[in-house]
Amino acid sequence: MTMHTSATSALAQDLAAHTGRFTDKTFDWNAFPSNAGFDDLARAQMRYIGAGGSPKVGDTSTLKPDHFTVSLIHKEPGKYAACHSHEIEESFLIIDGVLVVGWEKDGEVVEVKLGAKDMILNAREIGHGFRNDGVTPVLMSISVDVGKPLPPVYHYHPKEHPAELARSFGAAPGKTLPFDRNGSHPLQKLMSQYVVRHNELPTVWEKAGFTRKVYVGEGGIQHDTCRKEMLGIPSGVGIKPIVRDVEDAYLVLEGSLVVGWEENGEIVETELGLRDLVKTPAGRKHWFRNNSAAPATVWSVIGSSEADGIVYEAA
Ligand SMILES: [Fe+2]
Repeated sequence: MTMHTSATSALAQDLAAHTGRFTDKTFDWNAFPSNAGFDDLARAQMRYIGAGGSPKVGDTSTLKPDHFTVSLIHKEPGKYAACHSHEIEESFLIIDGVLVVGWEKDGEVVEVKLGAKDMILNAREIGHGFRNDGVTPVLMSISVDVGKPLPPVYHYHPKEHPAELARSFGAAPGKTLPFDRNGSHPLQKLMSQYVVRHNELPTVWEKAGFTRKVYVGEGGIQHDTCRKEMLGIPSGVGIKPIVRDVEDAYLVLEGSLVVGWEENGEIVETELGLRDLVKTPAGRKHWFRNNSAAPATVWSVIGSSEADGIVYEAA
């Protein structure tokens, strides 16, 4: 087997073309035209795979999506996103800060506070909004499936509703309920099925020497589009090549990770740093290895809900 590290081989170029680097990318403060003119709604988006709910689908700096999109959203303290719904599911994985997410139905709202590595999957057609009540910016990763990307339907946008009602996602005073897994309100019960707390998820130790927490998929939220997992990869640990029949993506949240591809005996590798991403297409032989002294935490999205029976083997 020949090792090629030349950046000029077609495979190396393809790997580079499937890599999104945080440092090279730009946060877009104008990704959502419906927010224009409303300072309280300001947010910035960084697109890695697809447009992720922004109408900027022609952006050539983002990778073409197959089954899911990946973007980052930056939200500063005091800002919020107006309550809206759409026909696609959307996950928010918090990376930094604390985010309040509200779900609304018939003028009542349930609010949940999500911290680092917590996730909510916003159900189809459920009115949802979010707000940063904290003192530090929120950074989160949003993924949506790419089934039928239609524009969001706004329920309580400040251009049509009083600012305070919009900020509370449509709840009049006294109509906001806290998130409660044991709550009796139907909206509390519904939301409870879609909120994942990092510290509540079992930690699965793979025989290959790394950890997985399954957010969406077997052991996590049961769901019909994509699987989502957080990997913890100790220093020096790597896996033998795997092949999936759908695409997957690795987004580095902590540390660094080497991702390798193989095709026709040729091997190429790239090292991902903080908030860098690789999308590996369906059918491509790939692996990862942590070459650094520090552990790596990696967010992984897999383009199918079907279990693929992959058994990870230590490299
Ligand atoms: Fe949404």
